[in-house]
Amino acid sequence: MPVLSRPTRREFLLGTAAGLAVTAGVGLSGRRVMAADTTLTVSGLDHAILPGTVTPDMMSFAADGPPPVLRLRRGQPFTVDVVNQLNEATVVHWHGLRIANAMDGVPYLTQPPIEPRQRFRYTLTAPDAGSFWYHPHCNTLEQMGRGLTGMLVVEDDENPGFDQDLPLNIRDFRLGEDGRFISFYRPRAAARGGTLGTVSTVNWAVEPVYDLPAGSLVRLRLAVTDMTRVGIYDLAGGAAQVIALDSNPLPRPMTPDGIILAPGQRADIALRMPDAEGETVTLNLRLPQGPKPLAHLRATGASARRALAELAPLTPNPIAEPDLANARILDFVFGWSPGGKPPVAGICGTLGYTFWSINRIAWDGDSPDPVAPLAVLKPGRSYVLRLRNETPNDHPIHLHGLTFRLLRSNKRPIPPLLTDTALLQSGETMEVALVADNPGDWAFHCHVIEHQKTGLTGYIRVEA
Ligand code: C2O
Ligand code: CU
Ligand code: CU
Repeated sequence: MPVLSRPTRREFLLGTAAGLAVTAGVGLSGRRVMAADTTLTVSGLDHAILPGTVTPDMMSFAADGPPPVLRLRRGQPFTVDVVNQLNEATVVHWHGLRIANAMDGVPYLTQPPIEPRQRFRYTLTAPDAGSFWYHPHCNTLEQMGRGLTGMLVVEDDENPGFDQDLPLNIRDFRLGEDGRFISFYRPRAAARGGTLGTVSTVNWAVEPVYDLPAGSLVRLRLAVTDMTRVGIYDLAGGAAQVIALDSNPLPRPMTPDGIILAPGQRADIALRMPDAEGETVTLNLRLPQGPKPLAHLRATGASARRALAELAPLTPNPIAEPDLANARILDFVFGWSPGGKPPVAGICGTLGYTFWSINRIAWDGDSPDPVAPLAVLKPGRSYVLRLRNETPNDHPIHLHGLTFRLLRSNKRPIPPLLTDTALLQSGETMEVALVADNPGDWAFHCHVIEHQKTGLTGYIRVEA
């Protein structure tokens, strides 16, 4: 059990964070802190998302509100008991964590689905610090659509000097004006870019306002847990820098203008709050019709007079550097394949269509008898994955259990980022590299969930 031997600055600050004022209607439950081993009760509930309405039949990882933020210590085992109180099977995946394959939460590939009223104990030992998230991998479109996306933070060994830490779980819901769910997708859209939501939220709230001490240093942890939307985000007001993407520190910070985040991706921003009481910083989604505010951060009290320069740089995660000179090249082609036979329904459901494929093979559904692995990798060897998108749509390609480095693209200059989810643009071929240092069968799929569920899924085997 991760126990802190002495009160750290972080603990003190998190303690004070619970006392922060938040505007009416916005609960703090989206940022509840779990400092020790925990239980997630996967539950149905009614909850107010659109002001003045109630959304029935939502799903959460808690019986009484939005999914809690899980906080782990790097390298220390953390047990999560998932108790399934839904009327259907589920399974929980920890997006971005390089953990043991048996804990990865993919039905049949790593464990049987958790049936109603059953429980499963996950033991997570995270080698990397950063911002992550968690979500089901069974009946995924509907379960995520109803609310099952939560944030997971792996703490740095040392706080680089932040006064506050604010996870922002960014996602849309598909709701009508009455606050009720509308269909989770449209087949026509699933065969193209995917079906967008109708209500944008942060931590399950529409345009929440967070009060934060004036002049203080805040670590904003953005995670796009949406099923579909590739968004461009801007932070307006205050002084700020993007310090990490997809859990990995950037060698050089970037300004938070035009941050492109696809489903599954994260950005950590170091923000220095304005000095004057009442001044606000706004997180905007860039839309063709103009910026759409998603959340506001309002300065309160006398200025703490901190400076971004006081922050220590983040420590890089211990990710093995691929040996490019001796790396084998593996080809993956992401294609359209309409008219294939629909995937098997099984316990974890199907949308009933096949539109997509990897290496010409469409995933045939979650079953005890899955298709063969797309590739078999030797332990400890380096590989270059050549990802070719022959479709006219963008696909955020996600690999479980391993972190890869972006090498090059035929379409644009790309920085050498470390990630688990890379946005592959239409017609783009991108090369990425990794060391196959985590054995197991690792799911490999598009994170537009409608694409994932209509064929654009497979897995890569790393031999033990
Ligand atoms: Cu976040 Cu298999 O995915
Ligand atoms: Cu994942
Ligand atoms: Cu896709």
